[in-house]
Amino acid sequence: MRGRARGGRYREGCRLNGKGCRTPSPGYNLPVKRGTLFFSLLILSAVGAGCRRGAAPPQAGIPGPPDSLIPSGPLGAAIQRGRALLMATRDSLPRHVGNALRCASCHLDEGRRATGSLVGVYGRYPSYRPRSGLVETIEYRVNDCFKRSMNGAALDPAGDDMRDIVAYLAFLSWGSAPAPPQANTRLQKWAAFAPDTVAGAALYGATCAKCHGPAGQGTTVAPPLWGSKSYNVGAGMARVRTAAEFIRNNMPFDQPGTLTNQQAIDVAAFVSARPRPDYRGKELDWPNGDPPPDVAYPTAAAQRKAHSAPGRSP
Ligand code: HEC
Ligand code: HEC
Repeated sequence: MRGRARGGRYREGCRLNGKGCRTPSPGYNLPVKRGTLFFSLLILSAVGAGCRRGAAPPQAGIPGPPDSLIPSGPLGAAIQRGRALLMATRDSLPRHVGNALRCASCHLDEGRRATGSLVGVYGRYPSYRPRSGLVETIEYRVNDCFKRSMNGAALDPAGDDMRDIVAYLAFLSWGSAPAPPQANTRLQKWAAFAPDTVAGAALYGATCAKCHGPAGQGTTVAPPLWGSKSYNVGAGMARVRTAAEFIRNNMPFDQPGTLTNQQAIDVAAFVSARPRPDYRGKELDWPNGDPPPDVAYPTAAAQRKAHSAPGRSP
């Protein structure tokens, strides 16, 4: 597996240049056979050629440490390989990815874009998460995205692939102080909105379908949003509010920030209600009976709680 995800070449493309360079990266829907990665990288660099960094100072205004801090030698190689795994996840780890996504499909700009940011995350783990009811290590959290967002299989937490991903996450946290956990209130604003899936469907057809496909199946320029090649029902993105927040801030890819909050939650509700792969064991999530209100499936603990406390709303 080593050597298939190579850090270096991606750097030719239209990456990280958040402003004025939002060309969708084609190529990740190409066949996953050994060798095609390089081919797709060539296409990527061709597309990116028009928007190289040019005279602008490298990474000006981009969150996280500059790439120039990546050291030479073995640590730098691990960081670069970790980054390449986030960018070409399926090509590099086909046995662990069960859909047509890559980590960077949701963690945009190599994990540096604000909504979905991986900058500073390393310093916040181990962390208690109510979905598992456990104190999770960063490796546990990464594997959650492999099993749910990538609809795939966990990596060996002690293996080279995980080590390199963690090396990249640690790099992204250089310069961010490790911070105590904070209550996550980011999604609360969405409680004020009533989603309208009919309006969401219309918006999808007018705004999103050209890239994500009329049936959400993905195209050569954008990954699927539903169906067998999408994230599964256990993924964070399957929650309406999580999707609304992501879409509001990051989509349409070529014009982010142009949707209203209402439009974002309408289209998120439409997308979240489409069929997608199941996640076995999802009913065991939030074992303390505290699922957020936009979780699309019943959990056993919440049902037990509702049962034992008659009169409480479920
Ligand atoms: C379908 C979208 C999607 C994909 C693909 C995806 N993730 Fe995530 N990831 C999320 C969402 C949503 C969250 C939760 C963000 C939050 O809680 O604020 C998340 C959270 C994380 C976190 C924890 C962030 C934090 O603030 O605690 C890590 C680490 C992470 N993902 C790594 C990965 C890796 C590595 C991959 C590829 C193997 C990946 N993700 C693929 C959507 C995705
Ligand atoms: C110009 C093309 C384009 C348009 C228009 C667009 N997207 Fe995207 N979208 C992308 C690309 C490209 C990515 C993945 C970025 C990457 O891999 O670097 C993405 C990623 C996503 C993701 C996370 C990954 C996944 O597939 O689940 C969601 C959710 C999403 N888009 C929703 C939407 C919605 C909803 C709309 C309409 C409001 C929309 N997008 C419009 C290109 C587009």
